[in-house]
Amino acid sequence: MKIYVYPGSFDPVTNGHLDIIQRASKLCDKLIVAVLVNSSKKPSFSLMERVELLECALKDIRNVEIESFTGLLIDFMKEKRASVIIKGLRAVSDFEYELQMALLNKKLDLDIETLFMMTNINYSFLSSSSVKELARNNGNIDGLIPDCIKDKVMEKFKLHH
Ligand SMILES: Nc1ncnc2c1ncn2[C@@H]1O[C@H](COP(=O)(O)OP(=O)(O)OP(=O)(O)O)[C@@H](O)[C@H]1O
Ligand SMILES: [Mg+2]
Repeated sequence: MKIYVYPGSFDPVTNGHLDIIQRASKLCDKLIVAVLVNSSKKPSFSLMERVELLECALKDIRNVEIESFTGLLIDFMKEKRASVIIKGLRAVSDFEYELQMALLNKKLDLDIETLFMMTNINYSFLSSSSVKELARNNGNIDGLIPDCIKDKVMEKFKLHH
């Protein structure tokens, strides 16, 4: 069974993530969307909120599971018997960091591959940070995140005004 893992902070999930998830899920038997707990960035949404938003966004995709992890991705991969790490690439700016991570993970485990998927051209400008920046300033986020999470995301930032 081919098990792939798509790690990220998903703070919150965007249509850019969703596009990668839909495409990656077709390449494997099971895709685990792995929500990073101990990120150096301080998330706006709690782990539980991020998982709930993902559950809503991914409810129509059959072979996707949502999990969270702490510590090394490589250890999580082994625990799940997963063979491939999925990463999305938007721009050259993503490349340098991702190359470093991929090489480091290769050094830790030769059997695990990192597979890079190019962004959908429609979402190449899109990040969780930019969605939050818009939501904070009451900008229009239609089409940038799944419809079913829109109210929850806008609500979060209203509270801070
Ligand atoms: N629009 C997008 N198109 C393709 N890949 C994406 C897109 N947005 C994020 N990704 C990829 O998804 C993975 C998880 O990213 P992450 O959770 O850091 O999201 P992000 O949008 O970059 O959030 P942040 O702004 O907080 O960094 C990474 O591999 C990242 O390159
Ligand atoms: Mg990022």
